[in-house]
Amino acid sequence: MADKSKTSENTEVSEAQIAVHWKEEEYFKPSKKFTEQANVQDPKIRERFSLKHFPDCFKEYADMLTWFQPYKTVLDTNNPPFWKWFVGGKLNASYNCVDRHLAQYRDKAALIFVGEPEEDPPVALTYQELYIRVNEMAALLRDYCGLKAGDRVTLHLPMTVELPITMLACARLGVIHSQVFGGFSGQACGTRIQDSGSHVLITMDAYWRAGKLLDHKINADIAVQTAKDEGQPVDKVLVWQRYPGKYSSPTPMVKGRDFFVNELLAQYRGQLVEPVPMDAEAPLFLMYTSGSTGKPKGCQHRTGGYLAYVTGTCKYIQDIHPSDTYWCMADIGWITGHSYIVYGPLALAATSVIYEGVPTHPDAGRPWRIAVRLGVNIFHTSPTAIRALRKSGPDEPKKYAYHFKHMTTVGEPIEPEAWRWYYDAVGKREAVIVDTWWQTETGGFLCSTIPGIDPMKPGSAGPGVPGIHPVIYDDNGEELQAGCGRAGNICIRNPWPGIMQTIWGDPERFVKTYYSRYTKDPKSKDWHDWPYVAGDGAMQAADGYFRILGRIDDVINVSGHRLGTKEIESACLTITEVAEAAVVPVADDIKGRVPEVYIALKPGFEGSPEVINRIIKANEDIIGKFARPKHVYIVPDMPKTRSGKIMRRVLASISNRRDVGDVTTLANPAVVEEIRTLVQGKEAVISKEAVPDDIAKFGQNE
Ligand code: WTA
Repeated sequence: MADKSKTSENTEVSEAQIAVHWKEEEYFKPSKKFTEQANVQDPKIRERFSLKHFPDCFKEYADMLTWFQPYKTVLDTNNPPFWKWFVGGKLNASYNCVDRHLAQYRDKAALIFVGEPEEDPPVALTYQELYIRVNEMAALLRDYCGLKAGDRVTLHLPMTVELPITMLACARLGVIHSQVFGGFSGQACGTRIQDSGSHVLITMDAYWRAGKLLDHKINADIAVQTAKDEGQPVDKVLVWQRYPGKYSSPTPMVKGRDFFVNELLAQYRGQLVEPVPMDAEAPLFLMYTSGSTGKPKGCQHRTGGYLAYVTGTCKYIQDIHPSDTYWCMADIGWITGHSYIVYGPLALAATSVIYEGVPTHPDAGRPWRIAVRLGVNIFHTSPTAIRALRKSGPDEPKKYAYHFKHMTTVGEPIEPEAWRWYYDAVGKREAVIVDTWWQTETGGFLCSTIPGIDPMKPGSAGPGVPGIHPVIYDDNGEELQAGCGRAGNICIRNPWPGIMQTIWGDPERFVKTYYSRYTKDPKSKDWHDWPYVAGDGAMQAADGYFRILGRIDDVINVSGHRLGTKEIESACLTITEVAEAAVVPVADDIKGRVPEVYIALKPGFEGSPEVINRIIKANEDIIGKFARPKHVYIVPDMPKTRSGKIMRRVLASISNRRDVGDVTTLANPAVVEEIRTLVQGKEAVISKEAVPDDIAKFGQNE
């Protein structure tokens, strides 16, 4: 962890010392109409989920599921921080999301697929049809691929119904799925195949994005090659067709390795596969996420606790009823989609909408036309999408006669300005908003208002959700009190069923990353001694609401997608001429943050647009197009401490037009002015706007 004393003395401000002087925002109350129909109307719910009733309070969520065998122990804390939930219980996630709804909801739409081309009509899949298709796919995975419980399979699928069908087919067999976001490059997919030890890759030939039918199969070839180079052979690549019966990719199929799912499925028509009763603690899926250092971490989520937690929070915080048409615009390739497009909504027998493309295609009215056409009444998206829709079509929503009862924002802090547009224009002042703060690691929501009970406050996520007890510690481990006006590191005091089990294959890193910092006694068997460290800065207002400031480690949140600085810098270093690379986050009106890259070349090499293009391409190829740096600056040298560490903090100040502070203690102070001129021109440009907190602190942990 950071050794503060080693960094520049004069400018060092630890996150806990930053006083935050926001003006308090006014409250907005949920309407009576909303509250009267809400799943949670009892103001005593937090009492029911208080620490006094921990851990038994979470039975309430487990009871929302159908168990093949009841659990014996709610929480086993014998081996901290490797908690076990609902021990002894057996269940199947696919059974809970599909089979159990057949009696009552057989003909109700489970999923509605909306392709990006607007002329293609939406396609609804009933629970019965989903049941059939999940069974057939499970039969194929079991009998054609030989997959069984505990095996891992990598999915690199875009946003079509084939993705949840494949996930649920895996879950039916107890096969651990690892879906890699479709926008990740083939190489990024390959390293995740290798890490998870998958022998099978499931992909799709093509998908629509911003008006183009992209070749996606090509990424499978690169992924398989990358995995092989890293020591993991892939025997089978299953290729779904975007248009069944037609191959939409120019990339050839590899004989004996690549198979069209549609063709294979012909052998499994109508086959039923018994859902395998899985231990509550059996892993359900892996979801890779970025940290500040090292390779991406495979967050391993359990079957029972995870499913119970997403079902409970979907019901109470998303306020989903079986009669609702729910649309979460996130990608299923991220945790939001797993928890709040697939597992949670389907466990509650909702109708969940899957939209393939970008929200502003072909124009900023698209989401609202979809909402009208499908009768969407719960809408879920990110600040990035809200900012983009607001910019390109602030008056669009009012042209359309949809009505949302409930809306969610997730993934990044939302500016009160953007929040108010969401509330006024998109929600038409009718919809309640929840700002849900959580992470890939946490399975489900951590902080949010309870929509029918709590008033909303723009820019604040709210209190802990039922059963989650957050606390803010300063750098010395002292608790910061609500309303003290200082920010610190937000942690969760207690275990909860949605928390990941471990990092796949790296339990030590799990303990170190999420628990070591504030553990008073590493030998303690008492869960009270093991607060979960989220890695975000936050402050708590006097009313108990948490305002999330952003990452305290050097993770850059681009449009709500987490990118590790090391990942980007390593991609840059694959270019021969590059000696050193440093990435910093830059504030962006739409995407929140975007990466900018500083490069020092090896002696004897000259910077050129061609080198810059190769650096950009390296990022796109190794990580994905969404990681594309906004600027690449070739600098004569990096600003460094006397011990030779690159001062990213100084570079971040230059990129964000901030005062660089005192740099006289650096080994090469003169280079700072050279770099500043290169980026900003002769006259220093200092922005007067308040410094976003994560940018102010970026690089201070070095
Ligand atoms: C950030 C996404 C402010 C935060 C579910 C967190 C948020 C990281 C919010 C996790 C929010 C997520 N307000 N910041 N409502 N939600 N974040 O793993 O920094 O992709 O640590 O999970 O996003 O990103 P992840």
